[in-house]
Amino acid sequence: MYVESLKLNNFRNYYELNMNFTTGVNILIGDNAQGKTNILESIYYCSIGKSHRTNKDKELINWQRDESYIKLHVGRQRLDKNIEIKIFKDGKKGIKINSIKINKLSELIGVFNAVMFSPEDLKIVKESPANRRKFLDIELCKLDNKYYYNLVKYNKVLDERNTMLKKWNSQINDVIDIYDEQLSEFGAYIIKERMLYIKKLNLKGKKIHDEISSGIESIKFKYLSCIKEIEVSKEDLKSQLKEQLIKNRSSDIEKRGTSIGPHREDFSILINNVDVKSFGSQGQQRTAVLTIKFSSLEIIKDIINEYPVLLLDDVLSELDINRQKYILNSIKNVQTIITCTGIDSIREYLDDDVKVFNIKNGMITNKN
Ligand SMILES: Nc1ncnc2c1ncn2[C@@H]1O[C@H](COP(=O)(O)OP(=O)(O)OP(=O)(O)O)[C@@H](O)[C@H]1O
Ligand SMILES: [Mg+2]
Repeated sequence: MYVESLKLNNFRNYYELNMNFTTGVNILIGDNAQGKTNILESIYYCSIGKSHRTNKDKELINWQRDESYIKLHVGRQRLDKNIEIKIFKDGKKGIKINSIKINKLSELIGVFNAVMFSPEDLKIVKESPANRRKFLDIELCKLDNKYYYNLVKYNKVLDERNTMLKKWNSQINDVIDIYDEQLSEFGAYIIKERMLYIKKLNLKGKKIHDEISSGIESIKFKYLSCIKEIEVSKEDLKSQLKEQLIKNRSSDIEKRGTSIGPHREDFSILINNVDVKSFGSQGQQRTAVLTIKFSSLEIIKDIINEYPVLLLDDVLSELDINRQKYILNSIKNVQTIITCTGIDSIREYLDDDVKVFNIKNGMITNKN
């Protein structure tokens, strides 16, 4: 899969932009604050209908304008796709795929697949469990509409349960019973899929990490759930989750919130059996993210039978030369769009099929 062309109107600092990409490596070069990440952001937006750096769509609209427009032409093995998105000031958006308006965001998912890798992804390794849950949820939503459906439903019921717990009185045990039944139904699906994803991450990650670390380090991922048994059916998971909810109900009432379930879970990342979050060096933490991102690329490829587009925002400069080489070697069959402030250090590792764009103040100043 590859991005053939991108058109932007009034998106961030671009009033008007038209770009045609090569199917190989595309490099966006420019000084700081010129609009390199904005281009990657607009492309990524077309894959999940969300920015990778803000939840407020309004911020994407140029400050001087009232609406933004993105048009992405995607080349695919079978049918090419055109994605058009208009973003409005009131937070609403209109999406068309091949000129046909879609009504649900879920219809956009899977039309165009992209993996974004930016310095902020270090949060997956270093920061709170919410960052790791977000990573899992986004990756799984990209691949499975049913996951997206269950996640939306789960969060809705969770909100209602928590509201109910806040105004608890003894007569409403029956209502909580209904919530627990629904939470365990949706929650079991989420936990099961996350466990399966972690399994895949282990399979792909082992090989990738081995290569990056020249066999010195081994990486392992472990999903941390309130459910202990991993090899169980969804029905078993559901009954275990329900049991846990009931067991924790009195403490939930006391704390006025739901203390167990996928919204509280996490996964650990171990290098040579040591937790990287607490004990990893800066370099090990960066390598772990690199492994996670390249594994997610392979996982998508296995499912959709073609590579997603890889968006690398400013990551090369943060890595040592071996890791840079690893990246540049592994992207041979993947369309990659890279942002950086200069390419001198990597020029010798680049193939001929490279297109360089110079970006200055929301414009492309030259194309090759
Ligand atoms: N809604 C907006 N309207 C107009 N300009 C905006 C908007 N949002 C951000 N900008 C401007 O876009 C520029 C930042 O663009 P971007 O983040 O793409 O920079 P960059 O080239 O990636 O820089 P760096 O190398 O520092 O990462 C800033 O100058 C910012 O003020
Ligand atoms: Mg940037």
